[in-house]
Amino acid sequence: MAQLLQLDASPRESRSHTRTLVGEFVDQWRDARPGDTVIHRDLGHQPPPHLTEDWIAAAFTTPDQRTPAMRAALADSDALVDELLATDVLVLGVPMYNFGIPAMLKAYLDNIVRVGRTFAFDPTAAAPYTPLTAGKRAFVIVGTGDAGYEPGGPLAHMNHVEPYLRTALGFIGIDDVEFVYTGNDEFGGERLRHSLESARARVAALTAEREVAVAV
Ligand SMILES: Cc1cc2nc3c(=O)[nH]c(=O)nc-3n(C[C@H](O)[C@H](O)[C@H](O)COP(=O)(O)O)c2cc1C
Repeated sequence: MAQLLQLDASPRESRSHTRTLVGEFVDQWRDARPGDTVIHRDLGHQPPPHLTEDWIAAAFTTPDQRTPAMRAALADSDALVDELLATDVLVLGVPMYNFGIPAMLKAYLDNIVRVGRTFAFDPTAAAPYTPLTAGKRAFVIVGTGDAGYEPGGPLAHMNHVEPYLRTALGFIGIDDVEFVYTGNDEFGGERLRHSLESARARVAALTAEREVAVAV
């Protein structure tokens, strides 16, 4: 039995293409693996708190030295990290905002990329950073207003979503990441319909493929 963590970063509701596609992904996953647990975190509507000076001081103090106030400052972040560590599969719905990820998702990542919890740091080691999460895979559904941001596409050089997420997730050990793109929201009509159809087909292929491949 696996745990799937569904992260929706769009503040839009029914008009959000990433929410719709992530929802379809999760429905197909549930049908194929009814024993799995699905946790839904709605970053678009309830973003995690931004970091504060107290948070940073606490996170960079070793656990045995933390005061009760420091532990309190990290409570939300600890809960998010615990949830992530217990997760086998992540599914993220990510609107492209100004060529990058939305601030709500960045706030989440700032809370879960944690020294001593999701990566280790040893300044004396030849390789100072060690990822502390292993065996997870992620699926990222990216929604864009234009199209052609995927690797090899005409706007790939303007895509700071995929390179950034590959770096940040890879830093903590999540290297097995699949991206699905749905574009053309700004154009609507046939172009949008075609984009959604392609993304939908890819979601179906991925859930069918992973149904067999995930052996937890
Ligand atoms: C604030 C804002 C910034 C955006 N920036 C971009 C952008 O840089 N490139 C792009 O192609 N589309 C951009 N868009 C369009 C969204 O990526 C597009 O509407 C996408 O479908 C949003 O995801 P959603 O449908 O899940 O809400 C932007 C939209 C908003 C609201």
